[in-house]
Amino acid sequence: MTALETGRTGHLAGPTFHPLRVVEIEELTDDAVALRFEVPAELAGEFAFTPGQHVAVRVPEDEERRSYSVCSAPGAPLRVGVRRIPGGAFSGAVLDRLRPGDELEVMTPTGRFGAALPGLRRPGFVAAGSGITPILAMATAALTDPAVERVSLVDINRSQRDVMFLDELADLKDRYPERLQLVHVLTREPQESELLSVRPDADGITRIRTALLGDVDGWFLCGPQGMVTTVRDALLADGIEGGSIHTELFHADAAPAPDLPAVPGLDSVEVEARLGGRRSAYRMSAGETVLDALLRTRGDAPYACKGGVCGTCRARVVEGSVAMAASWALEPDEIARGDVLTCQSRPTSDRVVLDYDA
Ligand SMILES: Cc1cc2nc3c(=O)[nH]c(=O)nc-3n(C[C@H](O)[C@H](O)[C@H](O)COP(=O)(O)OP(=O)(O)OC[C@H]3O[C@@H](n4cnc5c(N)ncnc54)[C@H](O)[C@@H]3O)c2cc1C
Ligand code: FES
Repeated sequence: MTALETGRTGHLAGPTFHPLRVVEIEELTDDAVALRFEVPAELAGEFAFTPGQHVAVRVPEDEERRSYSVCSAPGAPLRVGVRRIPGGAFSGAVLDRLRPGDELEVMTPTGRFGAALPGLRRPGFVAAGSGITPILAMATAALTDPAVERVSLVDINRSQRDVMFLDELADLKDRYPERLQLVHVLTREPQESELLSVRPDADGITRIRTALLGDVDGWFLCGPQGMVTTVRDALLADGIEGGSIHTELFHADAAPAPDLPAVPGLDSVEVEARLGGRRSAYRMSAGETVLDALLRTRGDAPYACKGGVCGTCRARVVEGSVAMAASWALEPDEIARGDVLTCQSRPTSDRVVLDYDA
């Protein structure tokens, strides 16, 4: 591959890692903590976030990175919630070894999970497990907006001991008793209503929605893939329009996407990428992903999971074409606009122009 940088085309900085000090580690449950970061005043603008966004985090000098959703309301200090995944390398290290005062490298916030929230009057949220993290930020932001009439939030956990941010959710309910409908489903703990004591299937979701929640004009679902799929399918089956249902996955359980077939006769591809206001041009083999090729020239190209889940590597194809293997992190209207996950994309034309800043 040859590379040529053709100079700045604007003033945008792409997502960038900065070392941030962890100033507080709060125990949320036996297996989850909230980390509060200190953001220096000169970086406050870069770390401004909208509710629903996430940050990639890595240990200094280590390329391994993981995404964590910001759980703070806008204007509050930057905070993320981390739940231990059994055998998990990063979450295990955070829970077992991280201490206040340690530094982590944190990427400036990305993600569009909450993009459709402004303008809604009656947003509805369904969270399962650690999926409450972005939803806490979004529900708090919605409740502080006087134009929002009501917020409906269903939080699904095994037992009360497993509920992340239990006290903060209770405080929100105390502050907004009329406008917040908060429903805790505890799948391994008996409650008065049998409906709220089992893992809800599609029928359970419909019953919870019709019996306990009011009208909702936009849905946000976050949690394990199985639960998100069940809830989404139940809403669609009840006639709710797909465009009003927004999802965020933390992990895809499905087998990795299969390798894409090669395009006959296409070997070497000319690529131009605009990233952080700078254009980079390079040639790459048609058999690799555009992200892997770009990383050889632009070590700052944003990514986290490389599995099609987090959306950190998103860019828009403005010329040429690519084929995408997995696209968990994109909504249909984003795909229609030409957005792709570059970690999942292989070129299918001999010239491709990508805009990471679009
Ligand atoms: C957009 C986004 C936002 C996220 N926000 C949060 C958050 O706010 N809080 C939070 O705790 N996590 C969040 N995650 C998940 C997080 O990025 C890591 O995947 C998680 O902490 C596990 O990392 P690990 O290194 O401990 O596990 P790994 O060592 O990467 O994985 C260990 C094993 O667990 C499996 N695995 C990995 N992640 C999960 C998962 N989430 N569920 C089930 N199995 C898994 C792996 O396939 C592997 O078999 C988010 C992920 C994404 C994509
Ligand atoms: S790096 Fe996560 S979707 Fe591409």
